[in-house]
Amino acid sequence: MSEGEFRALRDIIREEFGLYYDDGKQFLLQSRLALRLAKAGLESFDAYSAMLRNPRTRETEMRELTSVLTNNETYFFRERAQLKALVGGVLDEIRGGVRVRPLRIWSAACSSGEEPYSLAMTLMESGRLRPDEFEIYASDISDRVLELAQRARYQSLSFRATEPGMLQRYFEPVGHEYRLKDEVRRHVRFFRLNLLDQQALSGLQEMDAIFCRNVLIYFDRVTQKRVVESFAQRLTERGYLFLGHAESLFHLTDYYEPILQPDTIVYRRRAKEARA
Ligand SMILES: C[S@@+](CC[C@H](N)C(=O)[O-])C[C@H]1O[C@@H](n2cnc3c(N)ncnc32)[C@H](O)[C@@H]1O
Repeated sequence: MSEGEFRALRDIIREEFGLYYDDGKQFLLQSRLALRLAKAGLESFDAYSAMLRNPRTRETEMRELTSVLTNNETYFFRERAQLKALVGGVLDEIRGGVRVRPLRIWSAACSSGEEPYSLAMTLMESGRLRPDEFEIYASDISDRVLELAQRARYQSLSFRATEPGMLQRYFEPVGHEYRLKDEVRRHVRFFRLNLLDQQALSGLQEMDAIFCRNVLIYFDRVTQKRVVESFAQRLTERGYLFLGHAESLFHLTDYYEPILQPDTIVYRRRAKEARA
């Protein structure tokens, strides 16, 4: 891959997905794309760029591309302190204003489903909401992980932070896998969404809380800001945003105020008038 080819492809990828490959990551990008080149039977990275620009091939190839570019690492009950914060103080606050409709929580980069299903199990375990009092929405850009999420069968790596009691209560062993029970699955609605697609985002319902964890780290600062500020449009007046522990809004935006919770920080949407 020449430097020119690297730059051209990196710009297309950044614009489409927000994923940023800095100069030190040329080799990484090259090895990831080599797979797609081989599948498409192309001999140069220039030809691959042309394929991504061609309106006839663009959409299909972009979808394929996500499966080699994204890191889909996830597991059940990841960053448990945040789940505790949700059913602790946060729930009281967001529920205060919403009694006429079910609570809506969105897992905005849900990968193979462990995060939204953990949210559903956490809310069920809390005993604080009836089954018809909450809905979980879950989206990702990758068709491949969304298929896995809907299949809802998991292997041991997904359970590295799961208490044995939860595994017994909510899963059934099937061969070497565990199948999630329907009572949890029915709370979650999956759909495909690119976080950079402002139009798709603006079509979503208003959410009480958004979990967007461990994906912003792959975006450059401009894209991070754009994405979290567009979440503010989808959140209720005092809705909450939950980020991964390596992600922070510090020096990025004043659309949210950090709220300290036991062992974690969560972000509450700021009223427009309170922003700088
Ligand atoms: C590391 S996983 C995080 C999964 C889960 N949120 C967690 O914390 O365990 C990152 C996910 O972000 C998704 N992703 C990457 N870029 C995206 C984009 N532009 N729009 C939507 N999802 C994206 C990937 O497909 C991947 O499934």
